[in-house]
Amino acid sequence: MKRITIAIDGFSSCGKSTMAKDLAREIGYIYIDSGAMYRAVTLYCLDNGLFRADGQIDADRLEREMGRIRISFRLNPATGRPDTCLNGTDVEERIRTMEVSAHVSPVAALPFVRQALVAQQQEMGREKGIVMDGRDIGTTVFPDAELKVFVTASPEIRAQRRYDELKAKGQEADYADILQNVKQRDYIDQHREVSPLRRADDALLLDNSHLSIAEQKAWLMEQYKKAVSV
Ligand code: DC
Repeated sequence: MKRITIAIDGFSSCGKSTMAKDLAREIGYIYIDSGAMYRAVTLYCLDNGLFRADGQIDADRLEREMGRIRISFRLNPATGRPDTCLNGTDVEERIRTMEVSAHVSPVAALPFVRQALVAQQQEMGREKGIVMDGRDIGTTVFPDAELKVFVTASPEIRAQRRYDELKAKGQEADYADILQNVKQRDYIDQHREVSPLRRADDALLLDNSHLSIAEQKAWLMEQYKKAVSV
């Protein structure tokens, strides 16, 4: 069967990753969570003192150190899903904390960070057979993707999902803080100068506010089947 490129973009915490990962596993494609790559760079900045006391990032230093940041993915046999590694260390858990979520947007807005990560993402997708999720996959990373989906859900529903996810992992979570973080990231993601979050003209729109995971999965599988049959 023809192998294609699948780009799934949308707002934070709207269940993109879950549907993208499940589809990739079912159809035997590589799955890449591009947000995890921006999170890993942010974790590097936090671990190495690149955020100043006022919360501003030392962009000059990060630009000098960008070449030293290696991001890779390693299959976790326990979950059957890829874990994110930063310079060889598994950081999958650490990149999902609220601290990283609260610092990631300014890092993802830096043009040299985007340039470096987009180049890596394009290399990963050179042979097709890939499902990648993020914010700019259908617009910038893979503008020629055969299947593009733009996922959305209300901020309140997304904050609740994120809250449930953190609680299930036994992490500290406050619904009001999460909602504020979701809205703030939506704003920054849509208004940054480089690759702002927007729906590609040819992307299918999916509002999953009132869909179950099983319903979303079925919808996406149907779109995949249509895309490979043309
Ligand atoms: O999907 P996520 O919440 O894990 O993404 C983390 C941050 O990275 C988010 O604030 C937006 C940014 N991001 C981006 O700018 N471009 C992407 N392709 C993926 C994520």
